[in-house]
Amino acid sequence: MATSIQKIIVVIGATGNQGSSVADTFIKLPGWKVRAVTRNPSSPAAQALANSGAEVVLADLSDITSLSKSFEGAHAIFVNTDFWGTYRPLIAAIATGKTIPKEGEPEPSQIAFETEVLHGRNAAQAAAGVSTLERFVYSALPPMTKLSGGKYTHSYHWDSKGTIVDYIEKDLPDLAKISSFIYLGGYNTNALFSPKLDPTDGKYKFMSPLNKDTRMPIIDQRKSTGPFVRALIEDQKPGIKLLAYDRDSYLTIQEMADVWSRASGREAIVVQVTIDFMHEKFGLPWEVLEAPKFVAESGYTGSMKMTQPDELTPRVETRSYEEWMMGRDWDTILKTDEAAFQSAKAEIGVK
Ligand SMILES: NC(=O)c1ccc[n+]([C@@H]2O[C@H](COP(=O)([O-])OP(=O)(O)OC[C@H]3O[C@@H](n4cnc5c(N)ncnc54)[C@H](OP(=O)(O)O)[C@@H]3O)[C@@H](O)[C@H]2O)c1
Repeated sequence: MATSIQKIIVVIGATGNQGSSVADTFIKLPGWKVRAVTRNPSSPAAQALANSGAEVVLADLSDITSLSKSFEGAHAIFVNTDFWGTYRPLIAAIATGKTIPKEGEPEPSQIAFETEVLHGRNAAQAAAGVSTLERFVYSALPPMTKLSGGKYTHSYHWDSKGTIVDYIEKDLPDLAKISSFIYLGGYNTNALFSPKLDPTDGKYKFMSPLNKDTRMPIIDQRKSTGPFVRALIEDQKPGIKLLAYDRDSYLTIQEMADVWSRASGREAIVVQVTIDFMHEKFGLPWEVLEAPKFVAESGYTGSMKMTQPDELTPRVETRSYEEWMMGRDWDTILKTDEAAFQSAKAEIGVK
C-alpha cells in the first residue's frame, strides 16, 4: 500500500487565538500533519485539537529542551509568543494587594517583556537546530521605540516582538534565511473597536484617542491567521514581513463606527478623547495606551516597509470586517449594552 508523505508543522500557541487558526488551517490541508504545542495537553482546547487530528505535545517556551523535542522532524514552525499571559497575573496581584510593588523593582511590563523575549529566543534557538526545517514563521509587532525614534518607549508588548525579530535576523542568519514574519492588525474582537452607550445622554459613542481619519488594519484572528501563515509557508519565498488584515479592513475610525452602525442598526458617533481620559475613565494601563499615540502619529507600522495582503499571489481569501460584524449576535450584544447602560446610569444617579 502506498503511503503518502506528510510534512510536519509545529504550532506554538495552538490553543490560542492565532495558533488555533494556523492549526485548523493545516489540519484540513492535504500533505500536512499538525503538531500542536501546549503546556497542558488535558485542557479542553488541547483535547479539541487532538480530536480534530492534531498530535498534541507538551512543551514550554521557557524550557528549550522541551521545545527542541517538540520540533524534531519539523518542516515548518509557527511561533506566537504571549506577552499578556505574564503581564495580567502580575497586574492582578498588585490590584488585589497580593503584591506590593517596591521602589527600584522591575514593573510588570518590564518583567513580561523579558519573559516574552526569552520565550522567542528559546523558540528561535531550538528551531535553528532542526535540520529538516524549511520555513519558520514568527508572529511579530512593529518595534515602536525604534520606529518612534525613542519617543514611545512604554509599549513593551510591541518592542518585545521587535527584539525577537532582531535577534533572529542578527544572531541566527541561517534561520533568518528561511524565516518570514507576520504582523497581525488589531483583533476584530478588540473592545476598543465597539462604541458604548453614554449614561449621561443615552447615545452610542465610539470613544477613541485616535483621530476619526486614522486608519487601523483589522483581522479576524481566529479565522484569518491560518490562511495568511499557509501562504507564507506554501506560496511565498522566505524573507517576507506581512501586515495581515482582512479584505476591505484597513479602516479609519469613522469607517469602523459606520460599519458598527450598519451592523447594529444603531447610530454611533465618534468622540475623540485624550489618552489621559482613557486611563482615568476606563482604567486602561499605559502599556495599552501608548500604541494609539504611536498609531495616531505614524500609522500602525510607522516607516516599516511591509508586504500588504493584496500583494500576495495567489490572493488569500478572507471575509471583511463588515461581513464579520454583520454576522454577530446583535440581540445579545444590544441587551448586554442596555444592562450596562442602566447600571452605569444608576451608579451616577441619572434617571
Ligand atoms: N489583541 C490584538 O489586537 C493583537 C494583535 C496582534 C498581536 N497580538 C499579540 O498576540 C499575542 C497573544 O496571542 P493570542 O491572542 O493567540 O493568545 P491567547 O489566545 O491568549 O493564547 C496564548 C497561547 O500561548 C500559549 N502559551 C503561553 N505561554 C506559553 C508557554 N510558556 N509555552 C508554550 N505556550 C505558551 C498558550 O498555550 P497553552 O496555554 O495551551 O500552553 C496559548 O495557546 C500577544 O503577545 C499579543 O501582543 C495581539
